Amino acid sequence: KKVVLAYSGGVDTSVCIPYLKHEWGVEEVIALAADLGQGDELDPVREKALKSGASESLVADVKDTFVKDYAFPAIQANALYENRYPLATALARPLIAKVLVETAEIYGADAIAHGCTGKGNDQVRFDVSVAALNPNLKILAPAREWGMSREETIAYGEKFGIPAPVKKSSPYSIDRNLLGRSIEAGILEDPTVEPPEEIYLLTKAIADTPNEPEYIEIGFTRGIPTSLNGETKRPIELIEQLNQVAGNHGVGRIDMIENRLVGIKSREIYESPAMVILIQAHRDLESLTLTADVSHYKRGIEETYSQMIYNGLWYSPLKAALDAFIQKTQEQVSGTIRVKLFKGNATIVGRHSENSLYTPDLATYGADDKFDHKAAEGFIYVWGLPTRIWAKHRRG
Ligand code: ARG
Ligand code: SIN
Repeated sequence: KKVVLAYSGGVDTSVCIPYLKHEWGVEEVIALAADLGQGDELDPVREKALKSGASESLVADVKDTFVKDYAFPAIQANALYENRYPLATALARPLIAKVLVETAEIYGADAIAHGCTGKGNDQVRFDVSVAALNPNLKILAPAREWGMSREETIAYGEKFGIPAPVKKSSPYSIDRNLLGRSIEAGILEDPTVEPPEEIYLLTKAIADTPNEPEYIEIGFTRGIPTSLNGETKRPIELIEQLNQVAGNHGVGRIDMIENRLVGIKSREIYESPAMVILIQAHRDLESLTLTADVSHYKRGIEETYSQMIYNGLWYSPLKAALDAFIQKTQEQVSGTIRVKLFKGNATIVGRHSENSLYTPDLATYGADDKFDHKAAEGFIYVWGLPTRIWAKHRRG
């Protein structure tokens, strides 16, 4: 039996290698690390998989695809889970699943494996995505079944030459990629406790941010961010620079209690400067370029779309149908948004589009007003008719 394992270099996924071989009789483990811009050195990770007993150790650079095919559609959908979380972790999972499946098919593997626990969302996203892409592949999740504590896991690994973490490992569980960081566990499990400053890496504390505001201009083409301060940017570059600039002003921190798919409420901290700003700016550009009915209708679609991303349904017929709707709405969503960054706030202060539906002649309160005020009277008569009839009946 041959298995492709989603590998991160951490203790859990490393221990999965000997565990799969010795407890579950897997003959060959192919370790696959996806480079999503987590900022880790991936060469040592490749080495570590081999030392842990993998027969092959692969690193797939999927950063560009991640931004173009996963982050950008999410921005076009203004996707925020429970109206706050920009889904950095959730968006990465279906892409990792896709590379796992492709690798399994190339190597003729029978199964894929991951190191997720049984309490989280990530297991659902991996399992359902793999099933959608190739229902013939088995899914092995050792950490969901082995029932070992952290200490036992480390001890098990040491038997097979997997070194215990050198530094006293962080009390937090952290997931990171180009789109941001997700931090949980440790002291954060107490929802009354303010997150300690040490957990943040991408965003400055307000006390350390510049005392002068900074203005940036983001350009969108059909709903996709394409420029920063007038310069055309490649997708990865745009995300990296925005994370940098916005993080420097302390923008993009989120502290929330969220509802996991598996029924648990969990306290999670996010820092996701670029995504927070891009969604805010994109939404604003839509308010300028979409008609009222499309804009209002899209909000419901966005809510469903966000839940589908969170709940592991990236590859599904409903998601594909919603994508078609969203793409159609983006045809006119081009223009620029000016954002003021200051002390943890990102404020939209100006917007411009060739496709703007904003009509100064109609909006103005000045002398050049072209709105027909008399037409309003007849409109209100008809609009208010049902209310007037109802009110008369009520009074008898
Ligand atoms: N709660 C987030 C999600 O479900 C992040 C999960 C991973 N977080 C972590 N700290 N390991 O997408
Ligand atoms: C995990 O348990 O795998 C991390 C948290 C999550 O998936 O929600």
